[in-house]
This record gives sequence, C-alpha cells and structure tokens, in this order.
Amino acid sequence: MSAVRVVVTGATGQVAYALLPRIAAGEMFGPEAEVDLRLADIPPVIEKAKGVVMELEDGAYPLLARVSASSDRAESHTDADWVLLVGSVPRGPGMERGDLIRKNGPIFVDEGKAIARYGSKNVRVVVIGNPCNTNCLIARHAAGDTVPADRWTALTRLDQNRAVSLLARKAGARTRDVQRLAIWGNHSPTLYPDFTNATVGGKAADQVIDRTWLETEFIPTVQQRGAAVIAARGASSAFSAAQAIVDHVKSLVARTTGDGWFSGAVVSDGSYGVERGIVSSFPLRSKGDGSYEIVQGVKLDAFAKSKIDATIAELEKERDIVKDLLA
Ligand code: LMR
Repeated sequence: MSAVRVVVTGATGQVAYALLPRIAAGEMFGPEAEVDLRLADIPPVIEKAKGVVMELEDGAYPLLARVSASSDRAESHTDADWVLLVGSVPRGPGMERGDLIRKNGPIFVDEGKAIARYGSKNVRVVVIGNPCNTNCLIARHAAGDTVPADRWTALTRLDQNRAVSLLARKAGARTRDVQRLAIWGNHSPTLYPDFTNATVGGKAADQVIDRTWLETEFIPTVQQRGAAVIAARGASSAFSAAQAIVDHVKSLVARTTGDGWFSGAVVSDGSYGVERGIVSSFPLRSKGDGSYEIVQGVKLDAFAKSKIDATIAELEKERDIVKDLLA
C-alpha cells in the first residue's frame, strides 16, 4: 500500500503543531499506514514550516514515509488523498466565528480550485478554518463537479467532544459511557448538541441528568466553549482541535460498529429537511473507506427541531453573505 498523502494547511499554526506529530505517529490512519505529510502555508511563513519539517524528521517516526513543506499548492496538493484545511485567520476575544466569513472566504475559493486541480481522484477534505461549515461550502463550490459532494466535510467533532465530556462530568460517568451525542447544524453559537437521543451508561441522558440543566446550561456551555477557551487562554483552542481532527478522520476511515454514530458537517442531501447543498452537521456512520452515511430516522422532538431550525437558518444566512464566492 502506498503512503497516504496528507496536506495540512496552516502548517505553522498552533493547531497544526499539535496535529502533525500525531498524524506522523500513525494516530489518524492506523499502525499499518505510512504517511506522506505535506505541510502547506502562505509564503511569508513557509520558512518556519521548514523548522516543523525538521522536528518531524527528528522524531524518526516509523510510519512517516515523507515530509515536505511548500507554499505552492501545485507541489503540496498534487495527488493528495486528504486535505486538512486548518489555515485561516483565527478569531480573537469578543468575535464570533461568523465575523471571519469575508476575510477567510476567499482563501477557501483558492483551496477549492487547487483541490480540484491537483488532488487525487479519491481526495477527501476536512475544513477546520472558521467559519468552517460555510468555508467548506465555498471550497466545494470553487472545486466544481470534479470533487463529488460526499468528499467535503467540516469539523464539528470538537463540539461533540466538548458535549460528551460535559455530560460525562455532570453524570459522574466516563466519556466512553456517553453515546449517540450528535451535533446538528453550524459550528457556531447556534450549534445544537442533541442530548435528546444521547445515552449515558445505556440510559437516556435526560433520565440521568435534569432536563432543565440540559436545556439551559448544557447547550449554551457547549455553544460558547470556543469563546470561553479564547477568553481564558488568549488564543483559540489548539490541541483539543487537533484531537477532534484526529477523531474526525479516524471515524471516517474505520467502519462504525454497533449502533453508534459520530458528528461531522457534510453537504446536505435534504435529510431532515435541511436544504440540499448546505454544509450542516449531522449524526454520521462510516463505511470505513472515508465515506459516510447520514443516520436516518433519528427521532427529534419539538424542542430539538426548533434548535435545528435556528442553526440551519443561520447557515442559510451565511450562504447568502458569501453568494458572490459560490460561482
Ligand atoms: C473552537 O471551537 O475552539 C474553534 O473553532 C476556535 C474558535 O474560534 O472558537
């Protein structure tokens, strides 16, 4: 088997610094898969990426077949199997992710075009730079028909991880005891962490935890967690984001077993009334080859539906703001 060719953009940033050694160590693609890591960043900082390349070389990772750095997408993206779009301007204190939409949007037009032009025919993309759902929409449109809709995903696994951890702490349980906690909609303050279908130790979450707390504290805490990290740290989340990226790709490359699911933002096929083409988070199951299906038949009560409607309405609004970029 040839090495998995993985592009990480924003390679000199903090998220990439936490992510790259984990990919090199085989945490993303497993202990059998060699990786060809391509670090990508903008010309003014690419010299710094060379230092990161040196560190990766100095790790003597047995699975790291090749590592390189380039600010030329023709080099970094050629035959890429996975493109992890981390690079973007991060938000600062007091900002919402949506405030970055016009600043970061154009980056994703260029990325989409490069992925279509240079990526492998099986290329899969994960958008992490914010606002990640709408940046994913932009990149996918820029790529055109060359890259099918099911190759594009955006990261809401960080929200899922935050929600699972919070539920576990509240219930006095372990994170592994929390199942079927899905994030719906946008990676933004409107995201909906659906506790109504979640279980803790096999019991419905709202039987184990007070429903009022779930509605009034759990949801806003998860929605605002990114901002809380920024306020406390003075910088946005880094290694928890890296953890979520590893989890996201791992979930896609391993078949989902049992009756579980995981969250990821994908191009809507109209499921649950979410307009086709919008990039929304859903509960997903993986077929184990990088592809996924949206879990069907999840029961949503009136409360859950109203929360999902609100986050989808925000995604539609974001789409309208970047209409000119969706050629
Ligand atoms: C996060 O959720 O921590 C990241 O998306 C960074 C941010 O701006 O919140």
